[in-house]
Amino acid sequence: MNPRPVPVLPSGGRRVAFVGKGGAGKSTMLAYLLAYWKSYGVPCVGIDTDVPGEKEHGTLYVHASAVDLGAPVYPAPAVPQIRQEAQRLCPEKGVCVLDTGAWERKDNGPHLAVMSAVEKVILCLQPTPNEVERATSVLGYIHQLENTGAPAPELHVMMTMVGRSVAADQLEDKLTAAGYPVLRSRFKYSSAMNGPAHVFKQPVKVKSGSEMDEIAREVLDVVAR
Ligand SMILES: Nc1ncnc2c1ncn2[C@@H]1O[C@H](COP(=O)(O)OP(=O)(O)O)[C@@H](O)[C@H]1O
Ligand SMILES: [Mg+2]
Repeated sequence: MNPRPVPVLPSGGRRVAFVGKGGAGKSTMLAYLLAYWKSYGVPCVGIDTDVPGEKEHGTLYVHASAVDLGAPVYPAPAVPQIRQEAQRLCPEKGVCVLDTGAWERKDNGPHLAVMSAVEKVILCLQPTPNEVERATSVLGYIHQLENTGAPAPELHVMMTMVGRSVAADQLEDKLTAAGYPVLRSRFKYSSAMNGPAHVFKQPVKVKSGSEMDEIAREVLDVVAR
């Protein structure tokens, strides 16, 4: 029923990282994206570069170990191997997604390695006042890569955990004014029993025409471009 064609990915596939603060909904959204992309016939793999602390809810790897998300998800490689592993595991004409832990601009952490391993970065931002600063930090990192001549990814912002407040529209206006490309679709906050708050370790249900379908298609278009 969906009129939008599935984009053709380059023969070497595409690598995309999801970054942002802890609790922004990255891992949850990636679980959905893998299931939706699989339903479109796009081969995918996940690499989970997050090493969770005891208090954390759970990572993509833990999720994928409990249920079939439609794609294999690998645990964190050693930091110096991240780039090479993303290259090696990326399926032909498919997508390799890299999930990350809370954004940190740290020289020996995984984030710099992840940024140099991907062509695209999706920055997940919750509509709170500090988030413009976080966007600035991520963009600064990308500029740092460009300055050293390293391959630098293309950044897109996705608004996540969006409620009914006007804060999301205000943040989006600020980001757009500052020159950041913001994705049209938003990952909405929902505590519904069959929704994202309860999907961890549960199989993802793919529904054509749903909000998640829209997100999955828009992100795939951006990744393929
Ligand atoms: N759209 C959403 N609405 C409500 N709760 C969500 C949503 N997405 C994720 N959650 C919940 O919020 C918490 C953080 O999500 P998670 O995906 O682990 O974030 P991150 O990977 O960015 O740290 C989890 O408890 C998860 O179940
Ligand atoms: Mg996570």
